[in-house]
Amino acid sequence: MVARMFDPEVLTLARDVALRFLDGLPTRKVRATASIDALRASIARPLPDLGVAGREVVAELERLLDPGLVATPGPRYFGFVTGGTLPAALAAEWLTAAWDQNAYGHIMSPAASVVEEVAASWLLDVLGLPAQASVGFVTGGQMANFTCLCAARYEVMRRAGVDVDVTGLHGAPELRVFVGEQAHVTITNALRMLGIGSRHVFQVPSDEQGRMRTPELAVALRGGRGPAIVCAQAGNVSTGSFDPLGEVIDAAHAAGAWVHVDGAFGLWAAAHPKLRALVAGFEAADSWAVDGHKWLNVAYDSGFAIVADASAHRSALRVVAAPYLVQSEHTARDGSDWVPESSRRARGVAVYAALRVLGRQGVADLIERCCSHARRMATGLERLAGATIVNDVVLNQVLVRFDANDVESSDRLTHAIIERMQHEGVCWAGPTRYRGRAALRIAISNWSTTEADIDLSIAAIARAARECREA
Ligand SMILES: Cc1ncc(COP(=O)(O)O)c(C=O)c1O
Repeated sequence: MVARMFDPEVLTLARDVALRFLDGLPTRKVRATASIDALRASIARPLPDLGVAGREVVAELERLLDPGLVATPGPRYFGFVTGGTLPAALAAEWLTAAWDQNAYGHIMSPAASVVEEVAASWLLDVLGLPAQASVGFVTGGQMANFTCLCAARYEVMRRAGVDVDVTGLHGAPELRVFVGEQAHVTITNALRMLGIGSRHVFQVPSDEQGRMRTPELAVALRGGRGPAIVCAQAGNVSTGSFDPLGEVIDAAHAAGAWVHVDGAFGLWAAAHPKLRALVAGFEAADSWAVDGHKWLNVAYDSGFAIVADASAHRSALRVVAAPYLVQSEHTARDGSDWVPESSRRARGVAVYAALRVLGRQGVADLIERCCSHARRMATGLERLAGATIVNDVVLNQVLVRFDANDVESSDRLTHAIIERMQHEGVCWAGPTRYRGRAALRIAISNWSTTEADIDLSIAAIARAARECREA
């Protein structure tokens, strides 16, 4: 007989390791301290024949991996668009792992089914989206875009008399997709995965903040006929700007097109009464992609694919029946109806916990606090000699450039300052190119960031800039 070998001490040890990491976040270097080569040298080894005790594994994981960890959940990590993890959401993730429920269908876990139902309705409520919209709990913005565009492809083709389940896109009328010039790369990836090649994708010009120009969209839409999808954006990954959603949706709907809004982080503006103007009209779109692991501050991986017409969503994504899979006939939620995956963890638990611990007011405060930090960061940085804030700071993104004699030396200087700042380790933000020029890209989306963290970071960037100019 196999011995029952559950050692609760393994979990206690893991909790202690986690708490040490979390406690250290405000003070440890934000970057990893070990290189990839050093990590390989210490971690890589052939698979041993014999296993060891779980306690040993946990201790080993801390010892070997800690030098390669980045303080991404910490208060001064401003790279990409990275949220922290609310303690209650993290606790919910621990429970999710312990419970190990399969959120595929209600039959596997009534709890997972209902918690997703509730979390979905709270999400729609806090974002001000139509209550009858459907929500798929996916891994993040990429899969949210993919899932929504899959529903869009299904529905616009259905309206054109094509059943993509039967024919795919073979022999179907041309599907035209319109995206802003600065659409996120995950839109392009999603379209590729859906078999919509770049020849069928029209890039609509954007203004200097990266917002789609509606008159050009309207002209482009008039230039053809047949099924069409327009991908708008709420929250440009560089500038934080918003496409004029109301106008885009009006123009697209007038042409019979489906409108998808990629609002991976920017859609959260809808949760704050004062910021809601940025997304004005957005609720009339057909689908929306938004992340949980960015601004809602739940752990990776968590995103939401939201579709106004639930039947289009379900028709495109549902699992085609198999004899052993009991389906709900709509009496209970089957999580797999709304996402590309089949088995998966119960992502809704952490989303429930985050929304429950914050409440409507807490979500609004979190969003506004990050925006206010972004404004403070921009004000502090623009005082530095030769620094230019490149974007209108309308949300949580700040783009800053450091100028030298000419464009090339400004780009070099900007990169040098970024590297020095990253190496010092007080804060971390990454480089980008915006409209052909190098810039430092700062995104603030963490619940635990304080004004003091912003001031420390401004001082660190100022130090890096001074040292680079003196070098
Ligand atoms: C506008 C936008 N869309 C999509 C994504 C992709 O999200 P994810 O990395 O969660 O897949 C991002 C990521 O930053 C984003 O900013």
